[in-house]
Amino acid sequence: MSDLNFENKTVLVTGGAGGFGSQTCREFAARGANVVVADLNFEKAQAVADELASAVAITMDVTDEESIKAGIQSAVDTFGGLDVLVNNAGAPNLAGPYENTTSKDMDWLYQINYRSTALASQYALEHLRKSPIGNIVNVASVSAKRPRPGSAIYCSLKAGVEAFTRALAVELAPDIRVNAVSPVIAETGFVKNAMGTDTIPDETKASMVSGIPMGRPADITDVANSIVFLASDMASFLTGSIIDVDGGRSIS
Ligand SMILES: NC(=O)c1ccc[n+]([C@@H]2O[C@H](COP(=O)([O-])OP(=O)(O)OC[C@H]3O[C@@H](n4cnc5c(N)ncnc54)[C@H](O)[C@@H]3O)[C@@H](O)[C@H]2O)c1
Repeated sequence: MSDLNFENKTVLVTGGAGGFGSQTCREFAARGANVVVADLNFEKAQAVADELASAVAITMDVTDEESIKAGIQSAVDTFGGLDVLVNNAGAPNLAGPYENTTSKDMDWLYQINYRSTALASQYALEHLRKSPIGNIVNVASVSAKRPRPGSAIYCSLKAGVEAFTRALAVELAPDIRVNAVSPVIAETGFVKNAMGTDTIPDETKASMVSGIPMGRPADITDVANSIVFLASDMASFLTGSIIDVDGGRSIS
């Protein structure tokens, strides 16, 4: 059996309809997993689930505790258990410069980027404990280490997700592994939301990649592959690890 085989395993991906999330769903499904595509946008989640051999779409709002709880329970009810939780949903700062960022913005950024990960991990725990491969993979950001202007709260919350990953890993070992990926910028809905535009101007793209030694943004497959690797038996000795999927941004 391949070490990257997820047959008879169930994976729930939050933000599963988005850029990184949808590709993560595809990569797990290609390796035999049952996939729960959990997203605020049900229509988009359903479109992703329709592509996959064994998948369901569910509406989940990761800023709402009851919605997280219900979503995890429905995954277990549908497929009989939960083996891998991917805490991927997140959102950029939309308020611009720091002086424009209100306490309301801060609370929302906290709920969507940090509390979502902490709560989903908590509600998933009893199910992951019953799995032979219980696994959590969090999606942080290289901006935790290499911030850009205009996103102080977002960057510090993603640093919190990295610290949470290590802290939970030490608490849950050896039963459940907890790891994270920290991607560099990628052309997903996230960047378009942050910029308030559907197409990113060439000069903005050039400035985005100028600090990336590999000379390009991340691709959704770069991130999805690292998530699948971390959840797989090939990474069975890794816990509390953060993979910078960043083309070298963190060392430049
Ligand atoms: N794209 C980047 O440049 C980049 C870089 C580093 C880290 N990240 C992180 O990657 C993760 C995924 O982002 P992406 O780039 O795929 O963005 P994306 O906008 O393409 O996808 C995000 C998905 O989350 C969903 N979503 C939004 N609010 C939600 C909520 N309250 N509950 C549940 N789902 C919700 C959206 O509908 C969307 O499908 C985020 O945590 C983000 O912070 C992104």
